[in-house]
Amino acid sequence: MTKKRKQDTLLIHSGRDPQKHAGLVNTPVFRGSTVLFPNVESYEHRDPDNYKTMRYGVHGTPTTFAFEEAVAKLEGAHAAVAVPSGLAAIAVALTAFAKTGSHILVSDSVYGPTRNFCERRLKSFGVEIEYYDPLIGAGIEKLIRPNTTALYCEAPGSLTFEMQDIPAIASVAHTKNLPLLADNTWGTPLFFPAFERGVDVSIHAATKYIAGHSDAMMGVITTNEKHWLSVRRVVADYGFCVSPDDCFLALRGLRTIAVRMRHQQQSAIKVARWLQSLPDVARVLYPALESDPGHAIWRRDFHGAASLFGVVLKPTRDSAVAALINALELFGIGSSWGGFESLAIRADVRNSRTATAWKADGPLLRLHIGLEDPDDLISDLEQAFDVMRHAS
Ligand SMILES: Cc1ncc(COP(=O)(O)O)c(C=O)c1O
Repeated sequence: MTKKRKQDTLLIHSGRDPQKHAGLVNTPVFRGSTVLFPNVESYEHRDPDNYKTMRYGVHGTPTTFAFEEAVAKLEGAHAAVAVPSGLAAIAVALTAFAKTGSHILVSDSVYGPTRNFCERRLKSFGVEIEYYDPLIGAGIEKLIRPNTTALYCEAPGSLTFEMQDIPAIASVAHTKNLPLLADNTWGTPLFFPAFERGVDVSIHAATKYIAGHSDAMMGVITTNEKHWLSVRRVVADYGFCVSPDDCFLALRGLRTIAVRMRHQQQSAIKVARWLQSLPDVARVLYPALESDPGHAIWRRDFHGAASLFGVVLKPTRDSAVAALINALELFGIGSSWGGFESLAIRADVRNSRTATAWKADGPLLRLHIGLEDPDDLISDLEQAFDVMRHAS
């Protein structure tokens, strides 16, 4: 496409070329390991840094390339690479900028397994990890050392939903010629224009809203041109590749991400506002709400909100919180989010922050709002809160 198109149009038209595939609307599932070349010369002169044409199955097939192209176009990135999970995307991105003796700044509110990767893998390779207050903004400059090699953000924070001032952090990073990495799973390529906000490497658990149907595990990393090869080569060096069936599913999911997410956002705001009115609720942690401390940054930087948020309850017994969740009929109990279905879990971050202290007197829940009718979700929560009141 030569003309600059809007996101909804890109979602439908990028990553496919029907006339290359027997006129089929969707790029089919291409399976393959060995790729045959017409002669010795073309085999021996294949470009090791060309990751967009068929060389060997590990580097992807036309199904992978179609998915990667669609995500990269949507987010305004130079290129994208698919990996086996969101966590693999995080590990690859961090590894690309970590070397023995280097220092990496990581937000204190990162996804728990990101912290595990830093603590258990990167530290054992001699990388220094320093966690910072997610609200630090431009103050991050004070933490930069001569051996700092990357800054890592996640907005909003996992479970606690603090919003980060990514443009301010990016501006500090770029003054020091450092890359800014961001887990953009909540924002998605649709709702957070990572590269326009100064991110250099954007990380997605495609398992969530991109695939969108709770039926595939996948990650995708998008980068600007400057950092593309550093990141893409890590994927090649580890031999990570993604099944073409999963790529097909993720691309099929991506085609409808805009309608799903806008609808889920509306429902999530309705449910979140209703929760705010309950006497049992101390706070709803959701940047899309005007009352949220991160609302102004969210309004400035995001085009929308994912349907995942936190709820801090007023102090009550653990067994009463379990009774609430167990009583829910329409919310599943399980890991992950971003699918079509609603989910509820209890979360505990009291022992997983080291640079900041989580201040809340009561228990914390995380809700994912799916595509059910929001009024049904509210009435389900209403009866479950009644169960909790009786149990407390
Ligand atoms: C913010 C965030 N990033 C990354 C991941 C990891 O994704 P995956 O489950 O595909 O490994 C998750 C998973 O819950 C997540 O919440």
